[in-house]
Formats: sequence, structure tokens, C-alpha cells
Amino acid sequence: MSDTRETAKRIGAEEIERQKQFCAKIRKMNEGRPGGPPLAYTQTYGCQQNVADSQRLMGMLREMGCGFTQDARAADIIVINTCAIRENAEKKVFGVVGQLVHAKEKNPDLTICLCGCMAQQEVVANKIKQSYRHVDLVFGPQALWKFPELLYGVYTEKKRIFSIADEHGSIAEGLPVVRESGVKAWVSIMYGCNNFCSYCIVPYVRGRERSREASDILAEVRGLVEEGYREITLLGQNVNSYGKDLDTPMDFADLLREIDKIPGDYLIRFMTSHPKDAGQKLFETMAACSHVAKQLHLPVQSGCSRVLKAMNRGYTREQYLEKVRMAREAMPEIVLTSDIIIGFPGETEEEAMETVSLIEEVRYDALFTFIYSPRPGTPAAKMPDPASRAEKQVWFDKLLDAQNRISGELHRAYVGRTVRVLVDGESGDEAWPLSSRTHGGRLVHLKGGRELIGRYVEARVTDSNTWALFGEAL
Ligand code: 5AD
Ligand code: SF4
Repeated sequence: MSDTRETAKRIGAEEIERQKQFCAKIRKMNEGRPGGPPLAYTQTYGCQQNVADSQRLMGMLREMGCGFTQDARAADIIVINTCAIRENAEKKVFGVVGQLVHAKEKNPDLTICLCGCMAQQEVVANKIKQSYRHVDLVFGPQALWKFPELLYGVYTEKKRIFSIADEHGSIAEGLPVVRESGVKAWVSIMYGCNNFCSYCIVPYVRGRERSREASDILAEVRGLVEEGYREITLLGQNVNSYGKDLDTPMDFADLLREIDKIPGDYLIRFMTSHPKDAGQKLFETMAACSHVAKQLHLPVQSGCSRVLKAMNRGYTREQYLEKVRMAREAMPEIVLTSDIIIGFPGETEEEAMETVSLIEEVRYDALFTFIYSPRPGTPAAKMPDPASRAEKQVWFDKLLDAQNRISGELHRAYVGRTVRVLVDGESGDEAWPLSSRTHGGRLVHLKGGRELIGRYVEARVTDSNTWALFGEAL
């Protein structure tokens, strides 16, 4: 139907099988190793999609016979999965990769791989090619599924490999996966983005929108529920575009309804929803589906309609506020969060304060806030940007002050209440040893024993601060 369908190549089962054979060949090479199985160290930057991608890379490494280490110095293979969303993220990676030159000097057999969104950018790949000669393998998110073949090439041809072909993207089913916790799992439902917000690099590095078949998603979720996973987060750059490229008509709300029919004690979360495509049908479906968490991450980016237009977001301040009203009407208890960019090129102080006034009006439970970072190749990077960094910092601090106050107030309102939480792990804090999440996704540090991990419990909230709640399991 659409051009997405034509360009989104579905990787055939025989191709995935071929990759498994490369895993087997590498495993054979690894079996004879004098020091035991090689150890892999993976480091992931950026969003949950990258976390999910790294779990696939680890699945493939495990099939190659690798063990895992948390210590980069003990590793035989290092995989760095990178993020390109802001300049800071890129700088950090260049710092880390630069340092690895010493590790390679000490251990010339060390294999260093760089993948993810940074790797997909030609400028970055060229810089690695020329100035970071200790990196052996570079591949973008589109080439993730052929990691075994690429790595086999590095091992057998003894040469550096760069795989960043400008592909629109593909869908690969059946890749192995290593999930880190037995409680929470990530499930990608679609890849790529077609929105081209003027500041954003994602559509250039992750290709066009492409949806997984609903049957594949349902099978994966069913399997996870059967394995005992309690919280499953559906991932996509814009989950509300789900299904637009599929032959069988199905949208995201339909998908939620289908997933909700899977029996079991589990919660479904999802991110990210683009406000232009979120609407009544989605909100009503969320309200009606008992497995769907009453939580919505609905990034507004700016509270000023002029800036929203320049960002190419496809909605005005008023239209956004109307969506929030609709969501709250359908689900009065909904937990709302958002992303904000301060200092978009040409933004004035007055316009930035419109964003502050919007957050005062919405009263989000929490915010992810960023100062605009120019991304070469995006339209915004070419726009005049007269405000200084210092000015933007002042606006940013005002936004943070307002949000911290609001989060603090909303959190205080939980104190004394009993809430149902999923205990998802340890917090690392002796006084409140467990970490847990409310239905709406708010963090609760809990007093209680480790045996509660993986269980839903009733908790009494006894304290709160700006970032979290504190309580005891009943
Ligand atoms: N500069 C600052 N923040 C950005 N984001 C995306 N691109 C940029 C950029 N160039 C933010 C948006 C998005 C979140 C994932 O990152 O708020 O929602
Ligand atoms: Fe980037 Fe906009 Fe796509 Fe989100 S919707 S990934 S901000 S282009």
C-alpha cells in the first residue's frame, strides 16, 4: 500500500538461519580457546530501543559461545551500542572509544565493535575509520541482524568492517535475546520514524517506519507472560503509527486490545506516543484494558505554537492540551510524563516561558528535559540560533524549578495512601532495599525482603521527595 511497505524488507527465515550458522562457526572457533570461552562486554547508551537492541546482540554473542563480563578490562570482545540524539551522548562515546586504544595495546586480540545510531552516520563512521583505528567493526541499527556475519568477517578476513549502507530498514524476526531481568521485558513493535521533527536525527539513522506483524508481537508477549514476566513495555519511536504499513488493517489501539486478551498477571506499558496521533480511541482502549498501565508518555517538546510549528510537530499548544484533557477524562488517575526541549533555534525567553506555563497547566508527574543540541543534517541545525547557551540555561533552570515543585507536590499527595506496586529489583539503598513501580510507573523505594522481587504487593507510602516515593510492603 504505502512506500514503507515497499522499502521495509522483511528478513527471510533462511537469512536468519544463515546468521545462526555464522554463530555456530564462531562458536566452533571459540571452543578450542585455551583460556575458556571469550568474554563479551556490552555498553549501551540512549533509549530503551537501544537497550532492546543490545539484548539481541547479547543473544547472538551467547550463541557464538561467549560469556559476559561487567569489566571491560577482562573482555575479549567489546560492543558499544551508541546514541546520536544529542551531541553530549556522542562526545561521551568518543571519549570511551578513545580510551580503548590502551586496552587494545595490552591485548591485540581484543575485538572492538561500535554500533547503534552514531555508527549509522557517515561523518562518524569516517572519523572512526581514520582516527580510531583500533575499532574493528562498525555497523548501524539497520545491520544489527547480520552482526554474526560481520563479526565472522572480522575474525576470518582479519580486516576492519564498516556496514552502514543507507538502507531504509528491515524487520528481522527470530533473533535470540538475553533479557537482563526476569520481571521486566522490552518488546519492539515497530522500528524507525517518519515524522522528521526538524531537530531530530532519528529518522535519518533508524530509517522509515515499519511495523512488526501483530501475530509475531502477540506470540512474543504471550511467551513472556508464560515465562513469568510481569511488566512488558512496547517500544516504538511513535507507537501511534503502528500498523499503517501493514496489509492487515490494525492500529495501535487494536493491538493493545489483542494483547490485553492474553491471560495472566502482568502490565503493559508503551512508549513513545506522538501527540498528533494520540486520540480518543487510544485513551478509551487504555481505560478499557485492565492489563494496560494508566500511564502516558506524551512528549510535548514546547508549549509555544510558533515553536511547535518550527519543530514540525503537527499540533498546537491548544490541540495538545485538548488531548491531555481527553486522556484525563477517560482515565482520571492517569500518570502523565513528557519530553521538553528548551532553546530550540530562534526561541525567545517569552516562548520558553510558554513552555513553563504549559507544564504548570498540565502538571506532569515527571519530565525529561533537554537543552537543544544541533544535529548536523537536520533542518533545525541550519536555523539561526541567536540565544546564548547561558540564556538557555536560565530558562532551563526555571523549567526545572517549576517541575521539581510540581513533582514534589504530586508525590506528597501519595503519602499515607496504599498503592499496588510491582517489586522489580533491589534499590541499592540499605534503608529502602527494594525498588518498585506503581501501576502508573512512579518509582517507590520499599522496605521489605528480597523474596518480594517479581511480585505485585500492596505498599503503604510513608514518605516522598521530588523523584520518588518511599514505603513499606504490607
Ligand atoms: N536536542 C535536544 N533534545 C532532543 N531530543 C531529540 N532531538 C533533540 C535535539 N536535537 C529529545 C526530544 C525527544 C527525546 C527523546 O530527545 O525531547 O523526545
Ligand atoms: Fe524524533 Fe520526532 Fe521521530 Fe520522535 S517523532 S523520533 S522526536 S523525529
